[in-house]
Amino acid sequence: MSKILADVFPEAVAIPEQYRVSYQEQREYLINGELRHWPGALNTVQSPVYVKEGDEIKQQVIGATPLLTAHEALHALNAAVDAYNLGHGRWPAMSVAERISHIEKFLEQMREQRDAVVKLLMWEIGKTLKDSEKEFDRTCDYIVDTVKALKELDRNSAKLIEEQGFMAQIRRVPLGVALCMGPFNYPLNETFSTLIPALIMGNTVVFKPAKYGVLLIRPLLKAFQESFPPGVINIIYGKGRDTVGALMETGKIDVFAFIGTNKGANDLKRLHPKPHRLKSILGLDAKNPALVLPDADLDQTVSECVTGSLSFNGQRCTALKILFVHKSIVNEFIERFNAEVEKLKPGMPWDSGVQLTPLPEPGKADYLRGLVEDAKAHGAKIMNLHGGEILHSFFYPAVLYPVNANMNVYREEQFGPVVPIVPFEKDEEAIQYVVNSNFGQQVSIFGNDSKKIAMYIDMFTNQVGRINVNTQCQRGPDSFPFNGRKDSAEGTLSVADALRVFSIRTLVATKSTEANKQIISTIIRNRESVFLSTDYIM
Ligand code: G3H
Repeated sequence: MSKILADVFPEAVAIPEQYRVSYQEQREYLINGELRHWPGALNTVQSPVYVKEGDEIKQQVIGATPLLTAHEALHALNAAVDAYNLGHGRWPAMSVAERISHIEKFLEQMREQRDAVVKLLMWEIGKTLKDSEKEFDRTCDYIVDTVKALKELDRNSAKLIEEQGFMAQIRRVPLGVALCMGPFNYPLNETFSTLIPALIMGNTVVFKPAKYGVLLIRPLLKAFQESFPPGVINIIYGKGRDTVGALMETGKIDVFAFIGTNKGANDLKRLHPKPHRLKSILGLDAKNPALVLPDADLDQTVSECVTGSLSFNGQRCTALKILFVHKSIVNEFIERFNAEVEKLKPGMPWDSGVQLTPLPEPGKADYLRGLVEDAKAHGAKIMNLHGGEILHSFFYPAVLYPVNANMNVYREEQFGPVVPIVPFEKDEEAIQYVVNSNFGQQVSIFGNDSKKIAMYIDMFTNQVGRINVNTQCQRGPDSFPFNGRKDSAEGTLSVADALRVFSIRTLVATKSTEANKQIISTIIRNRESVFLSTDYIM
């Protein structure tokens, strides 16, 4: 084993005191406003972090979470169903201003848990301190922006419109009971980007945390419990097949918000007995390509491609997962790319300046090794120093070249630090890759010739959700629409769009006769209805 990984895992004493964790056995879960105690089996939380103990390197077990069954999951669902009460529950019937005050109370308490959540993000999923802090702060900003967007939506709806002899008021109202499930790579941010809009629009929620990044929700349980009326938010734990499968089978889930694989989404969706009643908001697989054209500014392109493919070790749905580089510059590109990869510092999430960290998914390093071996068997080489070296959960980035269509890594979403580079000569080769892909999230084009870039833009507008020019693929800013085509997504998320996807427009309409106008204006003047009202939130 080379030196680069030999020292990557620390001795316990080398871990700074403020970032150490002690074992947490979580037995509580939230149903109907009560933190219930789970006496049964637990799921062990293994950290991607290993620690040197003498001659051995040992994986750290940092806690355990409840392994609930279908029984508890159904209790959670019933609590959400009761709180919704066919649309007459306290929460869905509440005014927007009141719902906002509950969310703001939650945010205040959430902010107090920043250090605890950030620490667990590092230990549970190996995210660097800087990125963990960014994830927490971005999530708080997202909540603030969501409240702002809802106030604006509410202001725009606080008026009557007149059209073709009718007068009407149109407002957005909740859909019912939502099941929210997030991914392990953004267990806080991506989960909350559906959970918060679902709640604020008046839906009641069953929330099941991701596969990894589960303990980090624990510091927020009290805030959830104290900020919302009973049954509005219910938090369950356990294996997906034992818990959420049972929920879908009841047909009582109205909204399914899921960030994960398209296979997982398909398996769950097909369990619902009334598919027409189920509205889905899905963020799924992606294989975003970068196309590097002959006249690309290599300094800028290499820097965007390195962060695009390797930030958080390539574990972002928006990561650049395959690089098509024009043959005329591919050698120089690889040389510069490797030089930048070499500068990325491997280490533990809390180490200053660290960019490469261990991977949280068990067996992931072996899976990536398999992808690399398959590519090598079909003619690719590892181009960078130390590429593909493994120590337990650590996989040092492997830059593969020349990659072709016979290799698994050409199609499969590696979701990890393997960078496949495909040389290309004709535009058509890159275009056909995007057109024939099962995925359609984003693409990045790097170049300087405006005509050529325009041609690519027009080729891709009906293929993917976002075309990035001289910029890596990414979700942000959160006010931009985030979606995908084909197997990559269903529905569009952004701060404003999320409010729309978790609601439906309902209107009150009447013929504009004098008598009807009189009734409507009396209702409004005397504030007799919550819905039919011209009051708005400042
Ligand atoms: O994993 C998918 C995330 O939505 C990506 O977000 O582009 O801001 O890292 P990001």
